[in-house]
Amino acid sequence: MPARAEFLFHDLHPDTENLLDDVLSGLAQPRKSLAPKYFYDAVGSALFEAICTLPEYYPTRTELAMMQASAGEMARLLGPRCLLIEYGAGSGRKTRVLIEALMPPAYMAIDISRTALRQCATALAAAYPLMRVAAVCADYTRPLQLPAIDISASRRAIYFPGSTIGNFTRPEALAFLRHAHAIAGPGGAMLVGVDLKKDFARLHAAYNDAQGVTAAFNLNLLTRINRELGGNFDIGAFEHHAFYDADEGRIEMHLRSKRQQQAIVAGHTFHFRAGETIHTENSCKYSVEEFQQVARDAGFTAERCWTDAEHLFSIHLLTNVVQTTKMP
Ligand code: AVI
Repeated sequence: MPARAEFLFHDLHPDTENLLDDVLSGLAQPRKSLAPKYFYDAVGSALFEAICTLPEYYPTRTELAMMQASAGEMARLLGPRCLLIEYGAGSGRKTRVLIEALMPPAYMAIDISRTALRQCATALAAAYPLMRVAAVCADYTRPLQLPAIDISASRRAIYFPGSTIGNFTRPEALAFLRHAHAIAGPGGAMLVGVDLKKDFARLHAAYNDAQGVTAAFNLNLLTRINRELGGNFDIGAFEHHAFYDADEGRIEMHLRSKRQQQAIVAGHTFHFRAGETIHTENSCKYSVEEFQQVARDAGFTAERCWTDAEHLFSIHLLTNVVQTTKMP
């Protein structure tokens, strides 16, 4: 009989998302916006999985290939007996590649979604029965106290793949890295995947794929509002609009109104001019040096950086170096 997959579940009761309040306040702004975290309902999550396999969307396969090529070196640099902490419920292939190279005695996933956490923890506990698995339901973008875990680890190593850090604005990314630096603690480390600046055509294509999957992902936000909040958006009267802003160094995604119109959500009426947009996502791109500077500003030492041969994507090893005071 197969062993039962066991894991520890710690619920830190994060503030739950409030779609209604966030939609009403985002659409009431002079420049309308909706938070990208709301993309990921069941349909949005499936569409994102599909995006990751598109020929134009290079980040996922590039980062995976980099992990396959360099996980051994990453594991050597991190050293034995790390407590591996993943930000996000990582049941993905990249996580498994890292686990197999690092063979950590314990793995902890932190995510705001209880369902995603349970799925991830169940799968990883079954796949790696010798590894202690813990799931922490919490918002990792805020300061948090990790629950104690009963193993003697040499250091904490945070794993944050996928260039999700790009979906924070630059000030948010700095604040996030400062929290991560505190969580890693003295002697701790962080491995973070970061999409790189590159020629505009390549970036543009990655967010404007020929099959229209990214457009469907973006427009699904309005479908979700209609379904969950009883909205009456005419989905066909909006279009996907994604472009690279070179000054900001980011892809911006918007939903653009094709005509003058209005939409009602929970009794509130919102007016749209023809061509007016709802800003739905930023995806910031960094040069290696830019990202290393943000990491240093957050208190980390930029220890090592891997890039692929085409210089599309980067993975950074950051460390929280223990300061030794010099004896007089
Ligand atoms: C999740 N995140 C890193 C993706 C990105 O590339 O910014 C989300 C995405 N949006 C459109 N395509 C993919």
